[in-house]
Amino acid sequence: MHEEIRHPCVQHKLALIRDKDTGHKLFRELAKEITMFLCYEALKEVNVAEVTVETPLAQAKCHKIAEDLIVVPILRAGVGMLEGVLDLLPTARVGFVGMYRDPGTKMPVAYYKRLPHESGNALYVLIDPMLATGGSTSATIDLLKANGATRIVVICIVTCPEGLKKVEEAHPDVRIYTASIDDRLDDRKYIVPGLGDAGDRLFGTS
Ligand code: PRP
Ligand code: URA
Repeated sequence: MHEEIRHPCVQHKLALIRDKDTGHKLFRELAKEITMFLCYEALKEVNVAEVTVETPLAQAKCHKIAEDLIVVPILRAGVGMLEGVLDLLPTARVGFVGMYRDPGTKMPVAYYKRLPHESGNALYVLIDPMLATGGSTSATIDLLKANGATRIVVICIVTCPEGLKKVEEAHPDVRIYTASIDDRLDDRKYIVPGLGDAGDRLFGTS
């Protein structure tokens, strides 16, 4: 299952982040802001617990998020989304998975993994701006499941039909939230129109 968030506030920021003339400072700010909107949507059905709060006037029945939340950015570009998620979920724990695409085969190569202890029913929020072939996301979900994860949502800024198909076939239980399902992959397996190399644009490398 996937959901494309078409809200004008998200789409406006997407127009800015796609622009080739957007430099790394603004790119980082926009990645954070778009992530907050996407995360807000992705968490709309999380478990809550009823609590009673004393307002200055009376008691109010309220709800607080009752989840063991584990955010997992895929290194390196996923780090550009971490601050946005943590601003929304400041008590979440954080795990890291390092994955890069082999320049020849475009297949994901895992090089780092450091995940928090699995509590048994944690909700994992996997973040990476680009879900292109879907290889990196799918391989990371494999790693999380091997770590005990049973509940995973993916948040990406841009994806495409090929990548969605791959991840959804391998992991039909995982929900994917994105700001855009773009047209296609090019022959270098970049998303078109996309926003280019997200890691390079976030961190000012090339
Ligand atoms: C990018 C991106 C994803 C991956 C998407 O990372 O951040 O992790 O490619 O491609 P896929 O869906 O085809 O696997 P990259 O390998 O460029 O590494 P980086 O974040 O370190 O730059
Ligand atoms: N990785 C990126 O950073 N961008 C793409 O379009 C595809 C993979």
